[in-house]
Amino acid sequence: MTVKIVYATRYGSSREISGWIAERLESEGFTVRLENAADAEGAEGYDLVLLGSGIYNHGFLKELEDYMEAHSDSLKGTKTALFGVAMKTEPIMHKGKSHGGIIMLEKYAQQLGDSVIGCEMLHGQMVFSAMNEKDRKGIEQFYKMIGMTETEAAERKKPRTLMSKVECWEFACGLIEKLNRTKVKA
Ligand SMILES: Cc1cc2nc3c(=O)[nH]c(=O)nc-3n(C[C@H](O)[C@H](O)[C@H](O)COP(=O)(O)O)c2cc1C
Repeated sequence: MTVKIVYATRYGSSREISGWIAERLESEGFTVRLENAADAEGAEGYDLVLLGSGIYNHGFLKELEDYMEAHSDSLKGTKTALFGVAMKTEPIMHKGKSHGGIIMLEKYAQQLGDSVIGCEMLHGQMVFSAMNEKDRKGIEQFYKMIGMTETEAAERKKPRTLMSKVECWEFACGLIEKLNRTKVKA
């Protein structure tokens, strides 16, 4: 079976995570192709297409949104799975309503309809010193907005990784199980 992973990344964590997912799928006998959304080709001819992106302000990067829009018909005609890479993967309650986490992926899943067999939020990483100026300013503003002290913000700006190969492999194994189940049904 053939799988394509189309990823969008600004600082490389989603590319690394895509590689870990690919490693596991390949070890289970799948042929996997990895493509950056910015120059990815169509989605035809694959048994499964994974679409994943770093999460920025509660959504995918534009390159992946554009890819999904441009290839909407072929994606709807194949099996797909979505993953977001973020620092906060669990939804939070605010004024009695859940926000963030996997809920952020709902709109993308709705776009793809029944083709979606899996949806997951995976942990990423932040290296403040490696960010572009716009992102550094954005993050600093965010820390101020949520009332962090300078000391707390300085601590938060230290490189932080929450990336987990175990988590990525579990996601890959869950997808394999689902694929096998749908094969048996068919
Ligand atoms: C400007 C900016 C906005 C971000 N917004 C979010 C967010 O809304 N939710 C979240 O959990 N993480 C957020 N993050 C953290 C990223 O999702 C995380 O660093 C991820 O690993 C980036 O993936 P990439 O390296 O593949 O681009 C943000 C990071 C930056 C720099």
